[in-house]
Amino acid sequence: MNNVKIIDHPLVQHKISLLRDKTTGSKEFRELVSETAMLMCYEATRDLPLKEVEVATPMGVARTKIISGRKMAFIPILRAGQGMADGVIALVPAAKIGHVGTFRDPETHVPTLYYCKLPDDINERDAVILDPMIATGASLCVAIDELKKRKAKSIKCMCIIASPEGIEEVTQKHPDIEIYCGAIDDRLDENKYIIPGLGDAGDRMYGTK
Ligand code: URA
Repeated sequence: MNNVKIIDHPLVQHKISLLRDKTTGSKEFRELVSETAMLMCYEATRDLPLKEVEVATPMGVARTKIISGRKMAFIPILRAGQGMADGVIALVPAAKIGHVGTFRDPETHVPTLYYCKLPDDINERDAVILDPMIATGASLCVAIDELKKRKAKSIKCMCIIASPEGIEEVTQKHPDIEIYCGAIDDRLDENKYIIPGLGDAGDRMYGTK
């Protein structure tokens, strides 16, 4: 589990508790998903390389640092991952956004890819896949497969809550991928929902059922 990083920052943990609360309504839920993603992105971008530059301040010249030419792409998995996109793009406005859509068979729970639109230059970009919930891990593996096929420069994943089963699946199939995660819960139920989790993130975000 070396490549699984739990983001234990108090603000992230506090917001996850509010997300879990079943009395939190859709508007607040959407805001919390976006804010949590923004805070997690701060950690997930900690290794961005810097270069020194000189900047003229009103008082003189400062030798200071800027991010050195890294290009990023955020890849939300539809539909719940889209809720994380606003938060991360606010921090990294130059990033491009691609989308992956998977449909989960209601009986077998096996996901099928129905949509994939990635930036043309994904091979030059550090990709971060966004999905608030890693349940079985199967959709995330489909997204990682697509990004590897398109030769993304690097791939990380950001999720708010994961199951132990999902983490196991992803780290077995893709031991090279780092996962940034707010919490790892107890287990999956028979319908592959995370227990205790927060329910269906897409439904809670968009007010559907
Ligand atoms: N997707 C969700 O939104 N919630 C879960 O618990 C599992 C998958």
